[in-house]
Amino acid sequence: MQPSMLEELVPVPNPYPVVSEVLYPEVWQLCEQARNLAWDPFKDIDYSDLEKADLPPEVRAAGGEWWSLRAWMEHGAIPYGAERLREAIFDHQPFEIKQHITNFIAEELRHHEVSFRIAKALGGYEPTPRADYFKQIIPRFHDEKDEKAMSFFAGLSVNTLFEQLSGELLQARYENARFSSIKEACRLVLRDESRHIQFGRIIMRRFFGELSDEEKVVIGAKFAKKLRGSLLNGVYAVVNLPEDERERAGRNRALAAEYGLGATHPEEEIDIIRRGVDKIRKDVGQYGVEIPCIPEIDDSRGLIPPHQAVE
Ligand SMILES: [Fe+2]
Ligand SMILES: [Fe+2]
Repeated sequence: MQPSMLEELVPVPNPYPVVSEVLYPEVWQLCEQARNLAWDPFKDIDYSDLEKADLPPEVRAAGGEWWSLRAWMEHGAIPYGAERLREAIFDHQPFEIKQHITNFIAEELRHHEVSFRIAKALGGYEPTPRADYFKQIIPRFHDEKDEKAMSFFAGLSVNTLFEQLSGELLQARYENARFSSIKEACRLVLRDESRHIQFGRIIMRRFFGELSDEEKVVIGAKFAKKLRGSLLNGVYAVVNLPEDERERAGRNRALAAEYGLGATHPEEEIDIIRRGVDKIRKDVGQYGVEIPCIPEIDDSRGLIPPHQAVE
C-alpha cells in the first residue's frame, strides 16, 4: 500500500483505535435493559380509541396541537444527541457511552413518533409548527455554544436534569390520560426516560466530585438559562409566552387536559416544575452545584429576592 493511501485512511479527527473494553459497567447494564425494553410506536399501540372517541372538533384540534408540540420537542433531542455521539466517537469515549447515546437517539425518535401518531389519530396533527412563537423557540431550543461551554460529561448531566423535569411533567400527563393509547404511550416514554435519568445519575456520581468551582457555576447557569429561555416558553409551561399566545395556548392545553388527552393544565405546570427543580437543587447541591434563582418559579413563593435573579 502506498504511504499516501494510508494517510487518506486516517482522517482527523480520527476515531481509531477502537477500544472494546467496558469502563462503566452500570452504563452497559442500561444498554442491555434498553435492548430488552425496546418498543414500537406503530405495532405496540392501538390508536383506534382516539379515532373513534366522541370528541368535539375544538378538543381534537387542541389535543392535536398539544401532541404535535410534544413531537417537535422530542425531536429536539435528535440534533443534540447526534452532536454528543459525534463527540463521544472522536473523543474516544468507552463504547458503552457511544451505545447509550445511540440508544438515546433511537428512543427519542420513537417518542417523537408516538406523539405524532397520537396527534394524527386525534385528527389534529401539525407537521410543522404553525404558531410564530414555536417557529422562533424551537430552533433555539438547543444551543451548541452553551453545550460546548461545559465538559462532555457535565453537559450530558445538565441534559439529564431536564429529562428529570420533563419526566415529572410526563407523570402528571400519564395520570391525566383517560385513553388507553395515550396512557400506554406515556408509560412507555416514561420507562425510557427513567433510563436516561439513571444514566445521568451514574455520570453525576462519577464526575461531579471532580468538577472545578468554575464548572459548577457554569452548570447551574446553563440549567437556569435553558429552563427560562425555552422550556418556560411554551414547552414545559406557557408562562413566558407573549400575552396573546399564552392565552391561546393555555386555553388549548386546558381543554386537552379537561378531556383527558394526556395534558397538564397550565396552572398545574409551574407547581410541578417548581417541585421538580426543588428535587434537582437537592440532587446537585450535594456536589456543590447551585442553580441560580429562576424568577418564574422562585419569586412567586417569595423565598429569594428578585434582585438575585440571573438573566
Ligand atoms: Fe423523550
Ligand atoms: Fe429522554
